[in-house]
Amino acid sequence: MIRESTEMSTDVSATPEWHALAAHAKQIHDTHLRDLFAADPGRAERLTGQVVDLYVDYSKNRVTDETLSLLLALAERVGLRERIAAMFSGEHINTSEDRAVLHTALRVPRDFQLTVDGQDVVADVHEVLDRMAAFAERVRSGEWRGHTGKPIRTVVNIGIGGSDLGPVMAYEALKAYRDTDITCRFVSNIDPEDLYENTRDLDPETALFVVASKTFSTLETLTNAKEARRWLLDKLGADESAVAKHFVAVSTNEQRVREFGIDPANMFGFWDWVGGRYSYDSAVGLSLMLAVGPQRFREMLAGFHAVDEHFRTTPIERNVPALLGLLNVWYNDFLGAQTHAVLPYSQYLHRFPAYLQQLTMESLGKSVRADGTPVTYQTGEIFWGEPGTNGQHAFYQLLHQGTKLVPADFIGFSEPNHDIDAMHDLFMSNFFAQTAALAFGRTREEIEAEGVPADVVAHKVMPGNRPTTSILAPKLTPSTLGQLVALYEHITFTEGMIWGIDPFDQWGVELGKVMANQLAPLLTGEKPTDAAPDPSTRRLIERYRAERGR
Ligand code: F6P
Repeated sequence: MIRESTEMSTDVSATPEWHALAAHAKQIHDTHLRDLFAADPGRAERLTGQVVDLYVDYSKNRVTDETLSLLLALAERVGLRERIAAMFSGEHINTSEDRAVLHTALRVPRDFQLTVDGQDVVADVHEVLDRMAAFAERVRSGEWRGHTGKPIRTVVNIGIGGSDLGPVMAYEALKAYRDTDITCRFVSNIDPEDLYENTRDLDPETALFVVASKTFSTLETLTNAKEARRWLLDKLGADESAVAKHFVAVSTNEQRVREFGIDPANMFGFWDWVGGRYSYDSAVGLSLMLAVGPQRFREMLAGFHAVDEHFRTTPIERNVPALLGLLNVWYNDFLGAQTHAVLPYSQYLHRFPAYLQQLTMESLGKSVRADGTPVTYQTGEIFWGEPGTNGQHAFYQLLHQGTKLVPADFIGFSEPNHDIDAMHDLFMSNFFAQTAALAFGRTREEIEAEGVPADVVAHKVMPGNRPTTSILAPKLTPSTLGQLVALYEHITFTEGMIWGIDPFDQWGVELGKVMANQLAPLLTGEKPTDAAPDPSTRRLIERYRAERGR
């Protein structure tokens, strides 16, 4: 039975609220969005929400007022409001790692009060932000010089997962707000081609490496950082003293940073209560701050915080992230959707879907509940996407006429950062056209009325009833980017709480890491291939070795 307290829930699928949703799903399964709009044109006004600057229209979803009230009852049943309060107050809701989950504290204003586990979290956060800002100003103004006395021109962020995807997404998203000639590059993959391509034309005298790793133990990051240091010293013909001018670290682990050879004076810290995928608004965003400046970084944090406050204080029936999270549960668990498309109509957001993949899939890809019992229902949907309109000429065919149900989020902006001869209107007309076409399609009768040859009619019928949520913001700015990310963080949280899983751990990525370390000596020939874990892997490694002449 579900507990009414703030503790993690158990089997949500055993509740009457879940059963009511399952029955309701059968009833409305064949109801078309055309019928829902015809019967109730007011839904276009009613099924919308506003979260800070983001206008969210969820009327083109396959839901009725009854669906929404059943979903709200489910949220009530699992104690969503209490779970939200527990997160914001610093309870250890990451149960499998026994940690608080406080990425929301990274963006609170200076005068906020929050003490967690006896520590003044707000003071800690602002102390690091101030150090980051002071450092960023020194680099941006040219006061900070490289080993040979030249100012920094290129920042190379070395990190992976949350220590890469957030910074690179936000750097790309806010390129219009870069106000110096400092550019950023991002090295994440342990594939040597990544470091090679990013250092091939890099000027070592003007390069600054930001080594970002929460744990400072990640194989990819430490290997890339070690090789980058070697590259730098070789190129400069310098001794270790040059490292202090060209390497800074972002981590929670001062000891390991020191061991790596970076002076802790050049380290920017964060805390174990910030998950990697929730961290780019911490010191992990240093490369972004170097590019756009502390003021814009703070504007972005204010955008995050405004959405946090909405999520924390708004009743669930008007709480936009909670409602969108509930809609995701609806599709995933009751209408059988396996995936969820995220389609930003902004070229600047071209890395947003990749960023969201870690946020959502590392958080929600779980098959046991927080108490360790196996789930008996679907969790984490597969998030994917590409910016429009590029995607329209690639995979939208399947969205329109395929056999799969793919709920999709369309994200667009009324004002562009740069327009060229009214191109933006043309661009956004695609956004509106696609969401309308997906919802309402074109009927056989409409196609026939156009005089289409009889044998082609079936091919041209557009079934419609394809659900979308439209998220429209006035303009892509540091603030609206922060708002958007916070929105998805809290959507993810809501889904995790409904399913009763721990969305803040990621044990599933550990085994592959351990095995890669064990297999490396088999590839180099230091160990025989019969130490391979299975016959298939053994044969593959033997082939690899043969092709490398080993
Ligand atoms: O891949 C697992 C993971 O732990 C992610 O959660 C994390 O963002 C990434 O590795 C990088 O970790 P770190 O910042 O500690 O190097």
